[in-house]
Amino acid sequence: MKTTISQVGNYLDKEVTIGGWLANKRSSGKIAFLQLRDGTGFIQGVVVKADVGEEVFTVAKNMTQESSLYVKGIVRVDERAPSGYELTVTGLEIIHEAVDYPITPKEHGTEFLMDHRHLWLRSKRQHAVMKIRNELIRATYEFFNDNGFVKVDPPILTGSSAEGTTNLFHTKYFDEDAYLSQSGQLYMEAAAMALGKVFSFGPTFRAEKSKTRRHLIEFWMIEPEMAFIDHEENLKVQEQYVSYMVQSVLKNCQLELKALGRDTSKLEKIVAPFPRITYDDAIKFLQENGHEIEWGEDFGAPHETAIAESFDKPVFITHYPSVIKAFYMKPDPNRSEVVLCADLIAPEGYGEIIGGSQRIDDMELLKKRYAEHNLSEEAYKWYLDLRRYGSVPHSGFGLGLERTVAWVCGLEHVRETIPFPRLLNRLYP
Ligand code: 4AD
Ligand code: MG
Repeated sequence: MKTTISQVGNYLDKEVTIGGWLANKRSSGKIAFLQLRDGTGFIQGVVVKADVGEEVFTVAKNMTQESSLYVKGIVRVDERAPSGYELTVTGLEIIHEAVDYPITPKEHGTEFLMDHRHLWLRSKRQHAVMKIRNELIRATYEFFNDNGFVKVDPPILTGSSAEGTTNLFHTKYFDEDAYLSQSGQLYMEAAAMALGKVFSFGPTFRAEKSKTRRHLIEFWMIEPEMAFIDHEENLKVQEQYVSYMVQSVLKNCQLELKALGRDTSKLEKIVAPFPRITYDDAIKFLQENGHEIEWGEDFGAPHETAIAESFDKPVFITHYPSVIKAFYMKPDPNRSEVVLCADLIAPEGYGEIIGGSQRIDDMELLKKRYAEHNLSEEAYKWYLDLRRYGSVPHSGFGLGLERTVAWVCGLEHVRETIPFPRLLNRLYP
């Protein structure tokens, strides 16, 4: 019976055929242990010379790393195996022999691995990261579909910026100037006025000259936008969503979390509600703890980490000064120098995973902001229309998928969270 590694449990003590690759191998004169992978998982194949005969055993012994093959074997329970199963090999058919696979079981430097990203993806660790990334995406669609949101796809090529003009990727759009999207938000606001509750999931681009473990040039964002939802309600959706994602990974990715050596007790605590502190209190806390920061300054990574360390759940920092936030954020009606916004800071030093806010719904105020931010009224005319025709209170947020993957997987750097990372100085492979 032809099957996959993830499905072998259905064929206990039966003979199966699996198409796969040789990840690694150990052998002696009489027995060979093949570490096999097929994309769905990893399993050990045991080849006993006395059982399979000279010919098959020689094939096993000489097989090279990453050769592709069809392996035939009987499925056995193996308590010690992470998946719980092992294959007693009965036959081997090489499809293609790989010669001198560059990523050997020994240690390699990061740059070497990044240059071979197209092959590095095959490793057990990278496989686990991609499976968890996929689970986060699956849980995202499930959460928003179950809660009455409609998926809307904003454009990638845009005529204006959403998050400020300093880090835009410029390109030509025939005779016009165009920019790669930094955020779909402004379009999602239009969509929310048509469909109520909407979410997007797509690539976004920022020409940021930052070389940190949290910054990518191209990253994927989930951007929900909701009509008739205020700041407080917005935070509730965020904590429910993030809890749902993390609990889904715990439920469906135990093997992958184990392969990564992730401390899952930390993830088990990620259940709504999440703590909240105001920007004011965060500044006070930082000053009391020896950080040199003044009211009105934005937080850097060390500040975020220091604040997050006081909590074992993600923490919302709310009500930032208007001057350090985007033009579209709604001022607090009780205190116009701060806005109704929140950044969600992940635990364990992973930094900001969500930025969100209630949006300005008043046309005159929005016009004033255009002027303050030097935005052309012409380019943003359509956005003003959303306040001209049936304006309503509305809120939304953007979650960075890669930072979330890094946190859930416990990774040092976002470069491992996306199949082909685009970083400062890296556009290849
Ligand atoms: O805080 P940001 O800039 O918010 C927005 O773009 C809003 N328009 C979203 C919205 O309200 N619809 O970005 C949102 C999130 C950040 O919290 C972070 O997780 C991620 O996007 N992010 C990045 N991830 C990787 N590399 C970068 N260079 C990132 N910049 C932002
Ligand atoms: Mg932000």
